[in-house]
Amino acid sequence: MRKNIVYESVETLCDVCVELFEKKFLQKIVLSKPIMEDEIKSVITPKIISGTIVLQVETFSKDNKVYHQNIRDNYRMEFRDLFYRHYQINVMSTVGNCQYMFSKKGKETFIGCHKIKENLKKGIGEEAFVQKNNRTKNYILLGGEDFLKKLGISDDTGRVRDRMQSKFRQINKFLEYVDSIADKLPEDNINIYDLCCGKSYLSFAVYHYFKFYKKKNFKMICIDLKADVIEYCSNLASRMGFDEMEFICMDINEYEMVNKPDLVISLHACDIATDIVLNKASSNGAGVILSTPCCHHELNQKIKCAPLSFITKHSMLRQKLCDAATDALRLLKLESEGYEVAAMELIDPEDTPKNIIIKAIKKENPNLERMDKLKERYILTRKFLIGEE
Ligand SMILES: C[S@@+](CC[C@H](N)C(=O)[O-])C[C@H]1O[C@@H](n2cnc3c(N)ncnc32)[C@H](O)[C@@H]1O
Repeated sequence: MRKNIVYESVETLCDVCVELFEKKFLQKIVLSKPIMEDEIKSVITPKIISGTIVLQVETFSKDNKVYHQNIRDNYRMEFRDLFYRHYQINVMSTVGNCQYMFSKKGKETFIGCHKIKENLKKGIGEEAFVQKNNRTKNYILLGGEDFLKKLGISDDTGRVRDRMQSKFRQINKFLEYVDSIADKLPEDNINIYDLCCGKSYLSFAVYHYFKFYKKKNFKMICIDLKADVIEYCSNLASRMGFDEMEFICMDINEYEMVNKPDLVISLHACDIATDIVLNKASSNGAGVILSTPCCHHELNQKIKCAPLSFITKHSMLRQKLCDAATDALRLLKLESEGYEVAAMELIDPEDTPKNIIIKAIKKENPNLERMDKLKERYILTRKFLIGEE
């Protein structure tokens, strides 16, 4: 692609992207197959920097470096400059996705833009979630915290062990999401539950956040089926003087919540355990739910849907379809129970494939009629996918 030739599709894409960004629908633009040989790709994401939304361009180079540029104005001109320097452009937004490809032989392929334009015209769409630009600079955990050493995440000098780097990034990122919803929680006496806590890396991190970072009064209950890990974590909590933390060895299905939960967290509860967590949380009226699902098996085993058989006959695509459908159904169900929901990326997908975080915030005045419709849609969608249960 050369800058001195004007391609109608690229020009249209520039206009669409500016509109998506200005209307707050833009999630991400991935620019691949760059003209510059030393680059791998660039990713454009709206970010909040010093209280203002800007477009951050991250350019990944072949020497393993990442270069950042923040666009604060002249969006169309900047898009144009970047778009003409790449052979593939993927745009993700809350009103649809589109893809532009330019082959080396000069053939253009442009898919999905029409739908986005239609939705923009109708004004349909949810505001995209915009992250604060604190990925690297403002990590909540630094590595040297005592509980991280005791849990074996860091060594005695406070350096995060190589094999624990991914876990460290996961819990740190999860804390950023906790931080993003902190203003939705009560000022005092916050009830927090970690369901399917396992070795409780996340529970200790969340405890640390509320106790030392936010200096709040709270009570935290962590539940898991495994007696040995619960005993270990319980002993560790009491050795560390983490008095507001209680560990219970139990099937969460059977657990009766004593206090109305303000925040329910869960990291990597396997398969339908995530559904049990979400049901337990929403049926007890949890104010906020943050849950990162783990493996998905249920739908993959049950799916029986002739119209989708062109996908389900390929096992890898069947899994991908079932993963996405499972989480989308979870969001739909939570929405039908009066929650405002979003699915977001936890960390870099290269770190773990179990990378979606479900965020659900209880609405103050949910629309009951809409909830009924969503319930109906949930039932019909499950029926469409798996037939009679
Ligand atoms: C993959 S581990 C994740 C543990 C921890 N949250 C973490 O991220 O390290 C899943 C945990 O869910 C627990 N679990 C699964 N089903 C459960 C249930 N019905 N009740 C309680 N715990 C359950 C398992 O015992 C296991 O410790």
